[in-house]
Amino acid sequence: MKTNHLSPLTLDEIVSLLEYDRTRAEHELFPLARKVKEESVGNTVYFRGLIEFSNYCHKNCLYCGLRRENRRVARYDIPDEEILAMARFAREHNYASIVMQSGERSDAHFVERVEKLLAAIIKESAGELRITLSCGEQSAEVYERWYAAGATRYLLRIESSKRELYHQIHPQDENHSFEKRVECLKLLKRLGYQTGTGVMIGLPGQNTLDLASDLCFFRDLDIHMVGMGPFIEHQETPLAGSHPQMLPLQERLFLALKMVAVLRIMMKDINIAAATALQAIDPTGREQALAVGANVIMPNITPKKYREDYKLYENKPCTDEDPWQCQGCLERRIASVGNTIGYGEFGDSKHYKEQISKKNDKKQKI
Ligand code: 5AD
Ligand code: SF4
Ligand code: FES
Repeated sequence: MKTNHLSPLTLDEIVSLLEYDRTRAEHELFPLARKVKEESVGNTVYFRGLIEFSNYCHKNCLYCGLRRENRRVARYDIPDEEILAMARFAREHNYASIVMQSGERSDAHFVERVEKLLAAIIKESAGELRITLSCGEQSAEVYERWYAAGATRYLLRIESSKRELYHQIHPQDENHSFEKRVECLKLLKRLGYQTGTGVMIGLPGQNTLDLASDLCFFRDLDIHMVGMGPFIEHQETPLAGSHPQMLPLQERLFLALKMVAVLRIMMKDINIAAATALQAIDPTGREQALAVGANVIMPNITPKKYREDYKLYENKPCTDEDPWQCQGCLERRIASVGNTIGYGEFGDSKHYKEQISKKNDKKQKI
């Protein structure tokens, strides 16, 4: 493997890295990714306290346990007071960042509620918390309102950057348009959000060329943050058991780790999350991702009583735990790979900060 890439990796090179066997990955790819991480973003892991504040969703993604047509989920909206208490928990424990995630909805009531919650959290936390939203596709106006109310980061996974595959895992209707999703990502960037995206790995019919193209998609979009994890079947969804030749779970985990490692080499200074789904396959899945390039973790700070009803996929970890238990557990896991937690630090994407300062330099020159 070339160790000194002065020119960007080509699609073919990426495919070949993703096809490395365990020995080559462990001896060549993973150590290089670890070194790149150390040199570019260091061994600090940033916490984003995850608040799964509502599981209502008007979408019907074929892979997700929260899809509209899954009637076996008890739907909930966490009351405002409890959400504010979670944000307080994050602040008091020095997490410095939270992620507010929900199913997708765009009714006026929801939009306004999120806006008010943002304003309330900003007011109460006196600038000590950065807020990321993960509430799906919205209009430019809504994204602008939420930005004005205090959200500065947004996560919207592309799920797969290959149009055909995207359509295979979503219903064929205008509520699930690939083009709209790409547009939303570009819009979020234009509006000034620190923007994150990601894909699922090991989807039915997905090959290494598709995954390599996903990594190139992140690079072409010049994205600031990425969260990607293995696809895991959920029994109450159409994608469960739909494909005879699915990769075994352990292979999906291995492929996900190679994706993280290659991405770290390709985009040295972005933030990469160690996705929770990794831990659904192996108890040490998330720390393995930290060891090969990831630098962000999202401890779940949703109270235990709601967690069972936010099952995007089977075997989701931490459904029997409360926020403080996850914190202690993650502290041990992170220490086990020699990383430290950036308590009290916002941990903005370095890539984002550099883009902003380049833009400002240009403006000054004009
Ligand atoms: N397996 C893995 N990840 C999933 N997600 C939803 N369903 C699944 C699944 N079955 C992920 C999607 C979504 C994020 C919130 O959860 O990538 O963007
Ligand atoms: Fe809704 Fe998101 Fe699940 Fe799709 S992936 S059904 S938008 S919660
Ligand atoms: Fe939740 Fe380990 S991270 S229990």
